[in-house]
Amino acid sequence: MKNIVLEYLKESMNYVSGEDMSRELGVSRTAIWKNIKKLKELGYNIESSSKKGYRLLESPDILTEGEIAPLLNTNYIGREIVYYEEIGSTNDEATLLAKKGAKEGLVVLSSFQTKGRGRLQRNWVSSKGEAIAMSILLRPEIPPFMAPGITQVVALSVAAGLHLSTDLKFSIKWPNDIILNGKKVCGILTEMDGEIDSLNYIIVGIGINVNQAEIPDEISHKATSLKVELSKHIERKIIVSNILNEFEKNYKVFKEDGIAPFIGELKKYSALIGKDVLISNPFKTFNGKVVDIDSEGYLVVEDEDGNLQSIVGGDISIRGCNSYLP
Ligand code: BTN
Repeated sequence: MKNIVLEYLKESMNYVSGEDMSRELGVSRTAIWKNIKKLKELGYNIESSSKKGYRLLESPDILTEGEIAPLLNTNYIGREIVYYEEIGSTNDEATLLAKKGAKEGLVVLSSFQTKGRGRLQRNWVSSKGEAIAMSILLRPEIPPFMAPGITQVVALSVAAGLHLSTDLKFSIKWPNDIILNGKKVCGILTEMDGEIDSLNYIIVGIGINVNQAEIPDEISHKATSLKVELSKHIERKIIVSNILNEFEKNYKVFKEDGIAPFIGELKKYSALIGKDVLISNPFKTFNGKVVDIDSEGYLVVEDEDGNLQSIVGGDISIRGCNSYLP
């Protein structure tokens, strides 16, 4: 109901009386009043005049379905959005909803996480109201070995969505960090549930530093925000909708043809090809040079003995460059 009242106010552009709204929407005037109150609590600047009715003056930069839905051109990604001003972790919430049977494409968004999680058991911290914390629920009918490809398809969609929103150039530190001017601006955490031969669901969590005017000293050598680089405020709903629109297109191709159609783009966006790196995973730690991304989407690293190694996951630091060390 709140969203219907909001749409009505947005379409009118001018004053609308509570009586007209109640008649046209087929609800009581008290229901209209209550929903206007809820919208004001969310930060909508709505003028109320006893003679003329209600007029929407300004919408806040929030990530509700009411703000994002009009910007989407998707069929199912983001067609259901759950927004929390504050939450523990959007990935945890999306997992709960997935277990309760939520449909593919559900998006959980929040302006502040109290228990945001990063890869490798790290914390993901961002300041209130300035960042994007988003999780997408997916239920692809693909074999589990294809699942890591989803992270890369999401990374490409985020890089493209961010470019559309800012006109800046982004690169991807394989497989899940988005880099801007040599520093991390976004991290992706993909989690899945399934059996050995079938997937139940995948949650893709995306954390983006957007309107933080400053990055804390301890991490400012390796992390940045769009505002720091661009010196202007960017509406978060534009970014979210651009990413979801890009992702649905890419996801369709991925489900049909796998990662192969994306390899060219992944190489083009790569922040790692040609770089000396230190690879650490549970099995080994070694130095090498990144030479390629292969047809499966694995990173190809030439080790110090000249052998080519296919890297499936783990932690990758660029040697001699501390700009976006983990
Ligand atoms: C990383 O770079 O280590 C990944 C960071 C992922 C952070 C996002 S924010 C939205 C979602 N919810 C979480 O708790 N984590 C992910």
